Amino acid sequence: MKGQGASIEVMISAEDIDERVNELAAQIYEDVPAKSLIAICVLKGSLIFYADLVRAYPGAVHVEYMAVSSYGSRKTSGALNIHVDVSTDISGKDVLIVEDIVDSGRTIARLREMFMARGARTLRVVSLLDKTSRREIQVNVEYVGFEIPDEFVVGYGLDFDQKYRTLPFVGKIRNDSVKIDEER
Ligand code: IMP
Ligand code: MG
Repeated sequence: MKGQGASIEVMISAEDIDERVNELAAQIYEDVPAKSLIAICVLKGSLIFYADLVRAYPGAVHVEYMAVSSYGSRKTSGALNIHVDVSTDISGKDVLIVEDIVDSGRTIARLREMFMARGARTLRVVSLLDKTSRREIQVNVEYVGFEIPDEFVVGYGLDFDQKYRTLPFVGKIRNDSVKIDEER
């Protein structure tokens, strides 16, 4: 795998991702009455998924980007740092938030609150991956590509220490000596 220094075990193949992304795009198109969408890419992890999803979406897409990080203790509700915000008024619009993975649920919960407060007409969330067993906050995720077990995954946009994002599949790092939990 691109000589990035560790061995990665494939969890979800590029072919399976491709098939699922097309299904998700078709499903979302069916569900959005006006067919055109403001699709928000939550950087950086969603970038590859986002690029594939918006191209598979048959309707018109207005692309927007956000970069966020959550802070505060894991025991409290936490808050969101917004590093990059969308560049348009989303009030009255059909909004789709595109995430790479939902883990505790904090990031998506905060983003949902924020876009509802800004007056989105409809708000949907699509996440390529979902680790439901790690959820700490109840949050609605309308579309999930794949539910996965509680394992740290990389590839197809997801990183460990900014590495492995460009792998075409989703996989897990085999080297147990890497202290992954501290890097989340
Ligand atoms: P949440 O707020 O706990 O749901 O955090 C979700 C964010 O944590 C994702 O957008 C990722 O950036 C990161 N994350 C969670 N699990 C993984 C993983 O297995 N690999 C890479 N990033 C992850
Ligand atoms: Mg993310």
